[in-house]
Order: sequence, then structure tokens, then C-alpha cells
Amino acid sequence: MSVHKPLPHDAARLHVTGAARYVDDIPTPPDCLHLAFGLSTVAKGHVTDMDLRATRSSAGVFAVVTGADLAQIPDCSPSNHDEPLLSDGTIHYAGQPLFLVAARSHLEARRAAALAQPIFQDETPILTIEEAQAANSRFEDGPRIYSKGDVDEALRIATHVVEGRLDIGGQEHFYLEGQSALALPQEGGDMVIHSSSQHPTEIQHKVADALGLPMHAVRVEVRRMGGGFGGKESQGNHLAIACAIIAAQTGRPCKMRYDRDDDFIITGKRHDATIDYRAGFDADGRLVGVDFTQHIRCGWAMDLSLPVADRAMLHADNAYLLPAARITSHRWKTNTQSATAFRGFGGPQGMVGIERVMDHAAHQLGIEPLALRRLNYYREAPLTEGRASGGSFSGKMKGARLETADLKGRGAVRVTSEGGAKRFGGAHSPVAGGQTPNTTPYGMEVEDFLLNEMTERLAEQCDYTARVARVDDWNAREPVLKRGIALTPVKFGISFTLTHLNQAGALVHVYQDGSIHLNHGGTEMGQGLFQKVAQVAAHRFGVAPERVKITATDTGKVPNTSATAASSGTDLNGMAVQAACDKIRKRIAEGVAAELHAEPADITFEDGLVRSPTAEMPFDEAVQRAYMARISLSATGFYKTPKIAWDRLKGQGRPFLYFAYGAACSEVVIDTLTGENRILRTDILHDAGASLNPALDIGQIEGGFVQGAGWLTMEELVWDAKGALKTHAPSTYKIPCASDAPDIFNVSLYDAANREDTIYRSKAVGEPPFMLGISVFSALSHACASAGANFPDLQAPATPEAILAAVGRARA
Ligand code: MTE
Ligand code: MOS
Repeated sequence: MSVHKPLPHDAARLHVTGAARYVDDIPTPPDCLHLAFGLSTVAKGHVTDMDLRATRSSAGVFAVVTGADLAQIPDCSPSNHDEPLLSDGTIHYAGQPLFLVAARSHLEARRAAALAQPIFQDETPILTIEEAQAANSRFEDGPRIYSKGDVDEALRIATHVVEGRLDIGGQEHFYLEGQSALALPQEGGDMVIHSSSQHPTEIQHKVADALGLPMHAVRVEVRRMGGGFGGKESQGNHLAIACAIIAAQTGRPCKMRYDRDDDFIITGKRHDATIDYRAGFDADGRLVGVDFTQHIRCGWAMDLSLPVADRAMLHADNAYLLPAARITSHRWKTNTQSATAFRGFGGPQGMVGIERVMDHAAHQLGIEPLALRRLNYYREAPLTEGRASGGSFSGKMKGARLETADLKGRGAVRVTSEGGAKRFGGAHSPVAGGQTPNTTPYGMEVEDFLLNEMTERLAEQCDYTARVARVDDWNAREPVLKRGIALTPVKFGISFTLTHLNQAGALVHVYQDGSIHLNHGGTEMGQGLFQKVAQVAAHRFGVAPERVKITATDTGKVPNTSATAASSGTDLNGMAVQAACDKIRKRIAEGVAAELHAEPADITFEDGLVRSPTAEMPFDEAVQRAYMARISLSATGFYKTPKIAWDRLKGQGRPFLYFAYGAACSEVVIDTLTGENRILRTDILHDAGASLNPALDIGQIEGGFVQGAGWLTMEELVWDAKGALKTHAPSTYKIPCASDAPDIFNVSLYDAANREDTIYRSKAVGEPPFMLGISVFSALSHACASAGANFPDLQAPATPEAILAAVGRARA
């Protein structure tokens, strides 16, 4: 049994010893050129003149290329053909590449680039959401609106109306490995690219376009990234294209990597946002309707902003049944870096909006925040017979709800007999006159809601009620240090909202000696995808995972892949690999059935053996026999996600196959004199379905939580009045380090089989835990509130300055 085991990451040893090879570690041929961009220092306007003499004559320089030197400036956009590789003379943001230097070494290229003297004619840039709004500078003709029920009427009859505005800062990805690419020219004009990219097929496509070649002439390989977090879905295009065009022109290999400051200044980040809310509640605290306006700052080019903004809308409900809702989304175009994918892909911004509403309403209505949240949760769908039987799972898994919250493997599970959740007072009552359908604002029925039970269990595990009392007690006694505590839920939709992206392919070879070569379309960025998928392959063949060689993602092996994104890497590629393995299994079974005195259908693969009810042989021997019998031991596999259907213009349908759930309780302390703050303790209960690898999943949950908390607390991006990013290095942009993780940090898996038929009933886990970091923001808000009588209206990120301001408002 290889699945459901907490095996280490396949490259763990290589990572910690420094032996893991990233693009920049690939030995480069001696005649390799190194590239660097020269950047615009103004945010909007034109280049009127560019003196490149010093650059051209600088030591080691081989070539300098401007937009004007190219017959056609290649496009780098993943969506809209609006991102020229080099400026055509028009400037859209401070940091936009103007020219390209190719030199003998990385340092020489950068030094030369810095010697250029461009002359700009600058114009007033549009930098903020307010400025974009005033100029009506936006993507799409007008806002997108999703709605459900009659919000205006709901707000009119509501007993309480809670109203406000929340600013939410962006976030730099800060992958430890910066963006990089290497182009190796081949015979006949073909090109091989090594890229630090979550999306090899896109690199292939864009490089082929830039070179005027068919896609078959370009092969892209990605062994691993040192973190991507969404920042390498589209932002690596520029480096790969730059390397490819210079390599094609010169016939020499070309390599490019951004220095950290350049990486900050050139590439897009998480979209910052402003959310306006008006929410109506009845006398008991039930939400009757909410009106959200989401302002999303997209930067200068479209990139992935439309689906990001869509996902913010799709998560405006989070865990709450909204009887009436209107979600209006404005996608503002500004002269800043083109904001891009970042873990959660807009979902976090949408979710923070409704969690703010909950905190604000709890304060205004005087209801305990967790009680208010539970009261408004979606209903748990009753277990029907159809969904209670968990597909191919063992008998123990049938209840679709298992009682383990540890790593002890799957033997010790206890299925609750009643199946349904223990109910909280009122949580499942019909809302205002009749049973409101358990549907999202976009019309999808929530069939798999787990948070009633998960919240109850987490609250019990972390001793929520007693600790709230202790926090209140502390705050009543302590004048300076104030504590806060919050338990917040996460419901995150799994699938790409662009339906056609929900497909994957795999290629599996079994060699004569019984070793297995595994390839699929997903990329490894530290999340453990390769290890999980290797476990699936090993499990299908009933052999030890060491038999499986994980190989670099390669567009020549598996074509037409989607980005490894939307957390669906394992869901999609795991299934494709399973399909490929099963084809080979079937052929081997047919090949040895006679020898094992059985029908092929009765043959199983376990414990390194190929078995029939009456006989068995080692896997190696079966493979040898199949080979001698001239049976193909290589197969492709393919998978497409079932059930999904989504009309993004109407905002209606089933964009997601299922939801992943989680809940976190965080306790914090703030210093009301300085705004300094710490996370004292966090308890998490997260739903990774029947985890394929509990060790990796817990790693994803811990890392995601800390990254989410960092976004909402210490990570602050600052642009000056002219649009230059001032925080472009670790000296000025702070991400959490080990000492910023909670002092007490308890993470457990809910560990219930996915009711949808996913790979071994697991659930996607890459992004959802990020949003558990919202518990820290809520807890900080609670701490600020305890300093005075008013709602503190804490803004994100909750830096010490923001906390001081919020404490001031609470006391005003
Ligand atoms: N974990 C690590 N260590 N490094 C990363 O770059 N990216 C996250 C998440 N977890 C990331 C990570 C993001 S944004 C996504 S979409 C998923 O991993 C992608 O991988 P998966 O689909 O295999 O979960
Ligand atoms: Mo993740 S933001 O979908 O790469």
C-alpha cells in the first residue's frame, strides 16, 4: 500500500543538502550568453530617446536589443496579447522592460543594463483604485455582477445593517528561487527551453509564437521550481521568450534569471483590493442579504486578472448561506506591475470580505463571533445512500466521515454511525420564512458541507469557549497588552473555472527490469505533487515507491497541459497517471493470466506480486514475461474532471467539482503602545479528503497558513507617489520567518473521504489552507476592539501602524 502514507517528499534530501537542481544549476555550455533587462523608471509616458552607447561598450556585452530592433515585438501575455516583451516606446509601469542586454556573464549583463540613459516624457500615472475609478480605467466594459435574491429588499427589511470598507494589500510571491530560463538552440532551428514555470505548455506556446515556429519545434522541460505560488503561471514567459529569441538569432545558448530586486520590480503580485460591504441581519443575527462591491487592482496588463477577480466573487460567500446577495466586481487597470495568480487566486480577497462582515456584525449586534458564524453556515446535506458508499474505497471508508485527526494511518478510523453532523442551535434552521436552498450566490448547490462538524470538533479540541473567557479576563486586567482570539472557516472551490483547463495527461513506461518511469503534465514546486503521484503509480502496480522514477515535466512527453494551479495538480495528474498505469496493468494481466490459471479480471497487483486467486509471481517476472510475449509496456493516460459546467458571464452553474474545507483558531497579542503583535497559538483542522500523503498535506497546511497570515499582517507593498515600488528586497519587504509561526501550532487532518470520485478520495490541499490565515486577522481585530468601545475597522495588512490606527479608532 503506497497511498495514504506519510512518506517524505521525493526530493527532501536533495533540497536540504543543496543537491536539488534548479534551472540556474544546470551546467551551461561555455558559449552561453546571459541576459538582463533594462527597466523603465517612470510609470507612464513615452521613451523619447535612449542612449545605449555606454551599455553597448560595457565589458562583456555581446548584444543590446530594443523593441525597435525587432521586426515584431513578441507578446508575453497569457491572455490578451497586451504584453510586449520590450516597450514599443510607450511606458505602462515603472519596471517595464525597455531593452535587453546579452553578455558573457550575468553580472556583466546587469552592469551594462544599468548604464543606459533613457529619456522619458512622463505622464501622470493611474496608480490607485481611486485614481482608476476616477478615470474609469478598467478591464472589460463595466463591472461583473453575480446576484441571488432581492438584496435591496433584504437590506430594507433587515433589523440591523452593517456597513463598511476594507482595504486589502497585495503580496509578493517571494519564491526562494527567482524567475529563470535557459534556451538551448538545436539543429534545424528547434529550441529546448528549461524554465522555472508552473506552465510548460504556455512557455512552449509563447516561445513558438515568438520564433514563428510550430509548437512541435519547441520542447520545454521543468524539473522543479523553488516555489511558484502562482507567480510562475505566466510571469516566466518573458525570460523564456527573451532567451529564445536571442538564442535563435545568435545560435548560442542563453540564460536569464532575475536578480531579486528586478524580480520584485518587474513581475506581478497578488491583486490588492478594496471591498465595500452592506449586510443586513435579522434580530437573531441571521444574515438576510449582503451587497459587496469588490474593487480589484489589476495593474497594467490583463494577465490572469479576469479569472482571479471571478474567483474573488466566487468566494464572497465563504462558508455562509446568503439568502440574498449581490457581488459587483470592478477590475481596475493601473500603471503598476500586472497583478497575477497567487495562492488562492482571488479567493482569499473575496473571503476576507465576508469574514470582515461577520466580525463587524458580531461587534455591532453584540453576538459572540463564532456563534454568529455558525448560525450563518451552509447546511450540511443529509447523507443519501448514493453518496454514502465511497466508490472504490475499503469498507471502512463508507461513511464518508472518519474519526481520525492524526497521522496514524488508516487502520484506526472509526466511522460515526449517524453520519450527519451534530447540530448547533439554529445553525440549520430555515432562514427567514422557509427553507432557503443551500446554494451559493452563483447557483451551485453545496452538497458536501463539512464545517458544522469540523467547527464543533476544532472548537472542542482548542478549548475555544474557555479560552475566550480567559482572553476577556486578560483584557479586563491588562491596560497595554491586549489579546484576541478568532475561529474562522474556509470553504474553497476546487477546479479551474475555465472548464477546458480541467484536463491532464500522463505517460508511463514499465521497463524490462520492472522499474517504472513516470511522467505527467504537472510541475513540482515544492508542494509534493511528484511524490503523491508516484505513490499512486506504485500503488497501482503494487510495488514499492522506490521503483518509480519521477521525471521532469516535458512538453515532448505529455502535450497540451494546463498550468499546475488551482490546487488541482494531484486531482488531475493523479487520475491521468492511474489511467495510464491501469492500461499497462491490464495488458500484463492478460499476458500472464494463463500462467496464473485465472481470468485477467481476477488478477491483482500487490506486495510486489502479480496474483491470481490460486497462484502468484513477482512483478518483475510478470513484466519479463509480458515483454517476451511482445506486449506493450508503455501507455498514456488522460483525465477530465466530470460534472462541472460554468457560465462565467451569467455567473451561474457548477464551477467546482467539490469544496475543500478547513477551520483555524488563532490567538494573538498586541501591544497597544507600539502596534507590535504575535501569534500565540493556532489550532487547525483541515479537510484534505482521504489524504494521499498526510505528511505532505500537513506541510501544505502549515506553510499555507503562515503565508496567509503573512499576507494579512507583516507583508506590505509600498509604491511611491510616482508609481515606483519601494519595497523590492527582503530589507524592506518582510515575509514571516520561522519565529513568526505561532508559538503553539497544532495542525490536524479531518481525514474524511471526498464524496466525489477523486484520486483515492483525496482532496486538493495546495491553496485552501492559505485562507486559514484569516483567523489571525480576525483575532487581531478582536484584540484591537478590546482596547475600546468602537469597531476598530482594522485594515489589511495589519502592520503595527495599522494596528495602532485601529486601536485609536476603537478608543475614539
Ligand atoms: N507549496 C509549495 N511548497 N510551493 C509552492 O509554490 N504553490 C501553491 C500550492 N502549494 C506552492 C505550494 C499553489 S499557488 C498551488 S495552485 C498549488 O500548490 C499547486 O500545486 P498542486 O495543484 O499540486 O497542489
Ligand atoms: Mo496557484 S495561485 O493556482 O498557482
